[in-house]
This record gives sequence, C-alpha cells and structure tokens, in this order.
Amino acid sequence: MIDSLKRLEYRGYDSAGVAALVDGRIERRRAKGKIRELEAVLADQPLTSVVGIGHTRWATHGPPTEPNAHPHKAGRVAVVHNGIIENFAELKAELEAAGRVFESQTDTEVVAHLIDARLDAGDEPMTAFKTVLDRLSGAYALGVLIEGHDDLILGARKGSPLVVGWGDGEMYLGSDALAVGPFTQQISYLEEGDYVALTRDGADIRDNQGRKANRPVVVVSASAAMVEKGEYRHFMEKEIHEQPDSVQHTLSAYLDLVAQKVKPQDAIDLTKVSRIQIVACGTAFYAGEIARYAFERLAGVPCDVEIASEFRYRSPALTPGTLVVAVSQSGETADTLASLTWCKAQGFDTAAVVNVHTSSMAREAAAMWPTWAGPEIGVASTKAFTAQVAALLSLALAAGVARGRVAPDEEARLVKALFEAPRLIAETLQADDDLKAVAHDLSKASDVLFLGRGVMYPLAMEGALKLKEISYIHAEGYAAGELKHGPIALVDEETPVIALAPMDEVFEKTASNLQEVAARGGPVVMITAKGAPSPHGAAVRRVEIPACDPFIAPLVYAVPVQLLAYYTAVEKGTDVDQPRNLAKSVTVE
Ligand code: AGP
Repeated sequence: MIDSLKRLEYRGYDSAGVAALVDGRIERRRAKGKIRELEAVLADQPLTSVVGIGHTRWATHGPPTEPNAHPHKAGRVAVVHNGIIENFAELKAELEAAGRVFESQTDTEVVAHLIDARLDAGDEPMTAFKTVLDRLSGAYALGVLIEGHDDLILGARKGSPLVVGWGDGEMYLGSDALAVGPFTQQISYLEEGDYVALTRDGADIRDNQGRKANRPVVVVSASAAMVEKGEYRHFMEKEIHEQPDSVQHTLSAYLDLVAQKVKPQDAIDLTKVSRIQIVACGTAFYAGEIARYAFERLAGVPCDVEIASEFRYRSPALTPGTLVVAVSQSGETADTLASLTWCKAQGFDTAAVVNVHTSSMAREAAAMWPTWAGPEIGVASTKAFTAQVAALLSLALAAGVARGRVAPDEEARLVKALFEAPRLIAETLQADDDLKAVAHDLSKASDVLFLGRGVMYPLAMEGALKLKEISYIHAEGYAAGELKHGPIALVDEETPVIALAPMDEVFEKTASNLQEVAARGGPVVMITAKGAPSPHGAAVRRVEIPACDPFIAPLVYAVPVQLLAYYTAVEKGTDVDQPRNLAKSVTVE
C-alpha cells in the first residue's frame, strides 16, 4: 500500500492514511505530512491484513490535519476519496439531524456515514453503495471497505479516474495504472458513472444504470504508467479528459469548499498591489487575458496582459506597486522567463503561475502560484490551460476579498461556482458527438473564424490557436463585436464561424453578431448552453453544453474548443501529440 501511495505522491501529499480489515474490524493509520510520516506510524503500530485502502491527500476541504486525513470512517464503513462532493453540506446537515456525529471537516466523511446508514437500514453493500452514489453531486473517485465483508472493496468513478487492477487471486483499485503498478499490469479503466465490487475472484463492474459493464483488460507497462496514454489514442486526448481532476486539484490549492472561502495568499500582499502585469506566451497568454477580466472586475486592480517576446524588448514603463505575474506550464519559456527576470531586477514584486514547481520561473519569482495539472505530455496545452485559468480566477477572487471588494456571500457563491467546474467539465466531455460531426466538416475548411465576447474573446483566440497548431488549418480568434469592422469580409460559405456563446451578460450581443454572419451565408456553429435561444431567423448549427455560471464559463467552454481541434486533427491525420515545427517548451527566443 505504501509503495502504491508513493507512486501517487505527484498528485498531492499533505497527509496520508490507510485502513485495513484486521479480524473483521477496520483499523486505520493516518499521518499529517508526507507518506514517510505514515510509514513511521506503521513502523510503530504495524497493520497486517490482505484487504485495505489507502490515500495520499491534497487538502481540498479542511486543513491537512490527521483528523482530516483519509480514510474516513463512520460506523463499519471506511472511505478514500479523490474529488469533490459538491452537495456535501446538505447531506451532512441531514445526517447530523439524524444524530450522526462527524469527526472531520471534510466532504468525504458524509459518504462513509451515508453508506453506513444504508447498511443500518438493511441494504446489501452494492445496493447501499449505488443508492448513495445516486445522491452524490460532484466529481469523485471512491474506494470503500466495510466491516464484516472481508472479501470486498467497493469503488466508483465520476469525473476522477479509477482503474481496476487484475491480479492472480487478488484484485486492486487505483487512481491510475501507476498506483497498482507494484502488483499488476492488467488494467481495466472504469468509465464515467461506473461502480465496482472487487472480490479476490474478480470485479463486478456496473455502469451508471446498474447494468453489468464489460470493461476490457489492457496491459500497461506500469513503470511508465504516469506517462502512458492508457485507454486514449493520444496524450492530448488523455489530458483533455483529465481536466475534471486537474481543475479540482488546482482549485483546491486556492479555495476551501467547506468554508466556501478563498485561502489567504500570504506570499504577496494583494491589498498593496496597484497594478498587475501578466506576461506569457501562447496558450498561457490567453489564460492571462481571461484572468484580466476577473482581476479588474473582482479586485478593481488595473491589469495588463502582454506577450512576453514583445514585453521584454520594449522597455515597458511599469508603475510602482506593479505585481508582475508570469504564466507558464513549463516555467522555462525563454521570453517569459526573461521578462520575469528583467522585472525582478527592476525591483518589482514577481509571481509565477507554473505547472512545473521546480522550474526556473518557480525559482526566479518571489512567489510561486502552482497549478496542479500533473505532467502534460501533449505539445498542445489543454489541462495546463484550464489549470492556469482555475488558479488565476481563484487568485482574482482572493484579491477581491483581500481588498474588501467581494462580500462574504459573493465569495461563497463564487467559490461554490468554481467547484462546480470539475463536474460540468466531466459532463461536457461526455457530450462530444456533435463536436465530432462539426470537426468532420472543419477538417475540409482552409480558414476558420472563432468568435467570442468578454472572456470568450481570449478563449476564441485560444480555440484558433489549438486548431492551427494541431490540424494546420488557418484560424483566427476575433472579438465578436469587432467582426463588422473589416474581417466580416472574410465570411462566405466556405468559412466556418465558431461562436462561443454562454448565457452571460453579452449573450444577446453575440447572438446578433451571429445573425450578421449568417445573413452573409457564413456557416455558423454556436457553442452554447442547453436551452439558450438561437439568433432569431439565423440558421445556426448548435453544439449544446451544460449551462454554467458565467464566472466559470472559460473553464467549461475550453472543453469543446479543445475537442474541436483534437477531432479535426484526428480527421486530418496529423501528429496530434507532436505537431510539426512545434516543441513542448520553447526555451529559446
Ligand atoms: C500551447 O498549446 C502551445 N503549445 C504554446 O503556445 C504554449 O502555450 C507556449 O509555448 C507557452 O508555453 P509555457 O506555458 O510552457 O510557457
């Protein structure tokens, strides 16, 4: 178990624990800090068993203390959980009203109590489990032990990955193939909504309707499972599908769902910042452009965003009190690093939003604001982008709170909205048939326009970049309101126009821009919320995705934008993971 947990340490490690069935009883050992702390506890109080669950935690709700460490236990049930139970507060209130006492501040503990309560009501384990799963909202992966059932581990996957490992007379459950690598290379990838009962003899896998599901067994070289494609054709596809998990992980570094508050940022005094200057390249630049709307609206801080290769050579006139924020997946991009170094030398406060926490920018900046996307192998940035947006939206909220511009109830509302993103991303990932059909048509185009207003404008530019860099089709992202000032001359029957149109305050404006395009025969694809109206009298092709709070629209609408580029590139047969002329990290000018 410890070996497996060490293989998952890259996902987070502020506390860890194991639970095992010993003579029919569940025994737990947990420790704050790294897994070696848990090892010390086990050395002192050994556990001997053949049925157990373990967890290394990235604190989402409640500080990283031992009582908050997983496994959580209630009655005869122990649970480990990766993800978010969004409706935990109402479930917890219901359970407390029924007299149940909680020992932790986590959302996870409600799952243990709910299952225990169903068992008290006489349910069999799988029935109890499915009944509880149907009550949970959010994105999660679960592992469950029950006293009195020595040959059983229950598991479920919704939004966060979970695999079944097939051994010889033994069975395993893990967050990924790497976790079960010490025991087996025979893996079945559970699918969205699947749940499973493991016994020594095998796995009874059910789909979200409770029907027996046949998930193929594949062999992975678990030693490199961390960078295996697993069930996906490309790393890019895998990384797009990891976004419920990576966004949740990143949000949890900045927000506390239980308290529905931002976590204080002590590295930089956000009350003293007079201006924010974001520098970045490529996709990271578009993440910065999205953040500008939030920093100005929520925190009232003037915010500029600039491409690093321009910024570093124009002797920018930065004013005192400016906070310079570098945004970078690799933390090694030459132009961004050089800009950061120059600003630091000028005496400005610096911060780096980076995915590689040991990178040059992480070390150079006065403050490191991590994203938790995990290793991103595909050259086209996907999960790193949404992790950057998640971190930056959270930081903008933190700045608004610190500067007294966001009241507690608005803070709670926005924290709750952000934590809905993982589930909405997971749901959007399921609705990809329409996108595949659109991609089939896009693959024949030679020019494509992406349109958006507000935060959808930088996302439109990101969508154009994604399409260009992996399918080699020329594309442009444009402010929807700007099209009529010239580029609408490009519109004809051969030029698809992709519009990003969430139900936000500028939806009507975007819709009327689409009428202008449609009236000129431009084939319009409108990516919008289920139930949103189409532009009057305009024949648009709709791709509907789950409705969401406008604040998190950049996170949710990133998914169709990424999938469109991905499916188009697959149609064209380009090298999706390593497109021509590109490199994952541009460490030269
Ligand atoms: C994104 O899809 C591209 N691969 C590229 O634009 C990338 O975002 C840019 O090179 C910046 O890289 P960084 O985030 O590692 O600094």
